[in-house]
Amino acid sequence: MNEQASTGAARLSRRMARGCEFLGTDVAILGGAMSWVSERNLVAAISNAGGFGVIACGAMTPDLLDAEIAGTKALTDKPFGVNLITMHPDLTALIDVCRKHAVGHVVLAGGLPPAGSIDAIKASGAKLICFAPAMALAKKLMRSGVDALVVEGMEAGGHVGPVSTSVLAQEILPEVAADIPVFVAGGIGRGEAIAGYLDMGAAGVQLGTRFVCATESIAHAHFKKAFIRASAREAVTSVQVDPRLPVIPVRALKNAGTELFTAKQREVAQALDEGKIAMAEAQLQIEHYWAGALRRAVIDGDIEHGSIMAGQSVGMVKKEEPVADIIASLMDEAAAALEKRAM
Ligand SMILES: Cc1cc2nc3c(=O)[nH]c(=O)nc-3n(C[C@H](O)[C@H](O)[C@H](O)COP(=O)(O)O)c2cc1C
Repeated sequence: MNEQASTGAARLSRRMARGCEFLGTDVAILGGAMSWVSERNLVAAISNAGGFGVIACGAMTPDLLDAEIAGTKALTDKPFGVNLITMHPDLTALIDVCRKHAVGHVVLAGGLPPAGSIDAIKASGAKLICFAPAMALAKKLMRSGVDALVVEGMEAGGHVGPVSTSVLAQEILPEVAADIPVFVAGGIGRGEAIAGYLDMGAAGVQLGTRFVCATESIAHAHFKKAFIRASAREAVTSVQVDPRLPVIPVRALKNAGTELFTAKQREVAQALDEGKIAMAEAQLQIEHYWAGALRRAVIDGDIEHGSIMAGQSVGMVKKEEPVADIIASLMDEAAAALEKRAM
């Protein structure tokens, strides 16, 4: 490493220090949990490479999560986290599984945490990370005792909010980053962007899309090939067809599955109209649909009819490569960018 590069690396290491301390890692990069993709192999590979892997619990039962945590522990002795979804019917039992395994960090996704869940997670000894898609929510979560925030913009893959990462980062980081570690997510494909968010006060970043084509990722070869071929403009958000049925938009590569989702929404909206199901059940059916469609693409390799959830950074995914190489590239790019700063 030449002197210039080492100055950039030292700057990067200083800017990541807070995030690394919080996560217990060498690198303040979280591998965002991705249902079906973020299982033991990818999670352990990210943690072994110095980052922070997160198991996607998604629709797992407590028994499956128990086995997945044990399996991950068998592959790494480095810290990793577990992502739980707030609307999971067995949330309490899943928190108990995390407690049993002394999981160090729980990432709670899917809206405001239900009553008691924050206390239960903190009582388990885990640090709690929550998504803050708006300033008011960031402040509310901080008052509730959350330990860190993820600020994720609409460039991300999977379920997204309406605001871009760059705007959320500008709104939220200056206000709260001094008081709580904030990890920025959504649309990050290269290290220059990581350097930028660190300079704005982020403790670190979370990336999902960039890790899908890791050699260690179990995603089907067809799924990986679709990522490698795609450009940013192909990663589009789903459209809500019925105003009475609020669906959270999902960003994915456009395919026949996109049309199937439109048909599914019509079917659920009709059942709602006919009084056959209540709104909560309607929304649950939509979420189950996504989980099934994602499995079909990730595991079965049906990239025509399944859901190829992907963020806009998909255009920067060029090949299948080991996690360690992905993280090394991101860190080199970030260090080189910081090298150009005045100090
Ligand atoms: C295929 C895929 C599946 C995802 N599944 C989940 C999930 O189950 N839970 C969750 O909290 N986030 C999920 N995400 C979001 C990621 O955790 C992460 O925050 C996001 O990918 C970051 O943005 P990026 O894709 O632009 O890097 C998913 C993303 C992708 C691409």
